[in-house]
Amino acid sequence: MSQIVNPDYVVEPEKMNVKKGLEGSVVDQTTISKVTPETNSLVYKGYPVQELAENCRFEEVAYLLWNSELPTKSQLAEFEKKERSYRDITKANLEIIRLLPKKCHPMDSIRTAVSFLGAEDSRIWDKASNLDKAMIMLAKIPTMVAADFRFKKGLEFIPPNPQLPMAENFFHMCFGKVPAADIVKAFDVSLTLYAEHSFNASTFATRVIASTESDIYSATVGGIGALKGPLHGGANEQVMHMMLEIADPAKAEQWMIDALKNKRKVMGFGHRVYKYGDSRVPTMKKYAQKMADATGEQKWMKMYAALEKTMIDQKKIHPNLDFPAGPAYYMMGFEIDFFTPIFVMARTTGWSAHIMEQHSNNRIIRPLSEYNGPAERHVKPVSERN
Ligand code: COA
Repeated sequence: MSQIVNPDYVVEPEKMNVKKGLEGSVVDQTTISKVTPETNSLVYKGYPVQELAENCRFEEVAYLLWNSELPTKSQLAEFEKKERSYRDITKANLEIIRLLPKKCHPMDSIRTAVSFLGAEDSRIWDKASNLDKAMIMLAKIPTMVAADFRFKKGLEFIPPNPQLPMAENFFHMCFGKVPAADIVKAFDVSLTLYAEHSFNASTFATRVIASTESDIYSATVGGIGALKGPLHGGANEQVMHMMLEIADPAKAEQWMIDALKNKRKVMGFGHRVYKYGDSRVPTMKKYAQKMADATGEQKWMKMYAALEKTMIDQKKIHPNLDFPAGPAYYMMGFEIDFFTPIFVMARTTGWSAHIMEQHSNNRIIRPLSEYNGPAERHVKPVSERN
């Protein structure tokens, strides 16, 4: 097999008439969220994400993203009643998750389970019921992730408990118990911070799929595929692998110096939009520290501080949300390869909002490319090709 990219035809980047990675390209308008890198700020429907994280539960944030306003007490009660009533998954979907190879990544499990969920929905093409389908995914994705979490450990599935709010219920389904309130709050805060972030790679992927007039499940499956990559959502897992590799906070500074010398990409640092710090990091860092205090294990936060300081001193590159989220989830007791599926549980709210927004004012997304392949040539019969 010859290589796909023929080096003879690769032009130098400075000669390209393209914005590699769509950097700086504004591709549509949105009412859902706004990132302002100059002030390190992020708002959902006008509300600063830090205020939402501190003062609202994730359910309220989901309601906000889909309805443009925070719910009143009675609206929230009705929303939660519906979410809790949708949590069960079919026996067939549970069986699909059980039958997946034990060693497959949980992102592959959730991608498959959401795809199956779409196949089970007879209204798949009906856009008028998309808000209901968004609720179906919000309610069922945690059940599917928790089922996979249990099966991969050789444990029995724990059904959802409709008496519990979303965060508590997820702990219950994974561990069979609900931890102390400050641990639940740290988890709930992470879901709010992960819920939405304008035209990031996975959200853009969902909008591209929605723009073909495809259905909300297909678009979400595409979003999960995009989120899995270590340059995007997969970074929260890589951060913890990196911290385990470093092992000792006293070695963190030198580790970072060596990594930068070797041109290694350090996971959990850097961002396409934020250049002076990620709006979500101070809040998540605060809750990661609370996790350290709750567990009495300060090692990861000491390592956090040393890595952050060295990276900023050396390269002026700041941590992104995945940097505090990784150790926070680890200290909560989740297996590392479940960190990105937890991100899916949160981001399904933002994806659904964007898919519905795209459908409400659609034009197919179809950019152009600059051709740098072979010049025009003509076909010889196979007998004449050497
Ligand atoms: N570690 C080391 N160097 C990094 C870096 C990191 N995490 N992030 C950026 N840089 C360097 C780049 O290599 C580049 O250096 P160069 O000019 O010498 O080539 C420079 O900083 C500028 O990079 P930039 O153009 O800002 O990166 P990008 O916009 O193409 O990519 C990310 C953004 C997020 C993909 C990138 O920062 C990254 O891979 N981070 C690690 C993965 C991660 O944490 N992802 C989660 C994002 S929320």
